[in-house]
Amino acid sequence: MTMTLTKTDENVERVMLSEEEIGRRVREVAAQLDRLYENRRPLVVCILKGSVIFFSDLIRSMKTPLEIDFMAVSSYGTGTESGRLKVTKDLTTDISGRDVLIVEDIIDSGNTLYHLKKLLNSRAPSSVNIVTLLDKPERREVPMEPEYTCFVIEDEFVVGYGMDYAEEYRNLPYIGVLKRSVYEK
Ligand code: IMP
Ligand code: MG
Repeated sequence: MTMTLTKTDENVERVMLSEEEIGRRVREVAAQLDRLYENRRPLVVCILKGSVIFFSDLIRSMKTPLEIDFMAVSSYGTGTESGRLKVTKDLTTDISGRDVLIVEDIIDSGNTLYHLKKLLNSRAPSSVNIVTLLDKPERREVPMEPEYTCFVIEDEFVVGYGMDYAEEYRNLPYIGVLKRSVYEK
């Protein structure tokens, strides 16, 4: 069988954020989170799959004692209607009375986190904060203001550093904008 393998980054139009820029900013935000959670023991929640790289770098830059857990969700539909969140993997930790930090890759319409925050708040945590790697505020459909944002970006589709297009490109070490031809093929 012959197969043409395209090197992952040949489909990238331009680098939006380099590995170095991301690393610097992630360390800055980790330091802010260390101050916020001083003398506490937050449960840091990775929202699979897109946040996995950001999450791994962030927690390794944090010095505060913490615990981790994982959750996989998807939102469908728009607006503030309830029941629009599909939990495909739930937490294994009881969060009642806990300080929960949600780690997300990117906030777009805001629907996913709007519903997720509501769900987690119904389990009586002591606090719920959101840290996102990227934010596209122009695209918001519901009110969703993350407590911590690494980068605010324009309305462009990005991949890499955990984020995908059709499950590809998650392993790029930087954040890039895909070539138009990838969407049009
Ligand atoms: P929303 O805020 O509910 O609209 O959805 C956010 C989710 O959509 C993110 O967690 C990503 O999985 C996905 N998403 C939104 N914009 C992008 C992008 O530019 N690249 C990759 N995934 C994206
Ligand atoms: Mg996601």
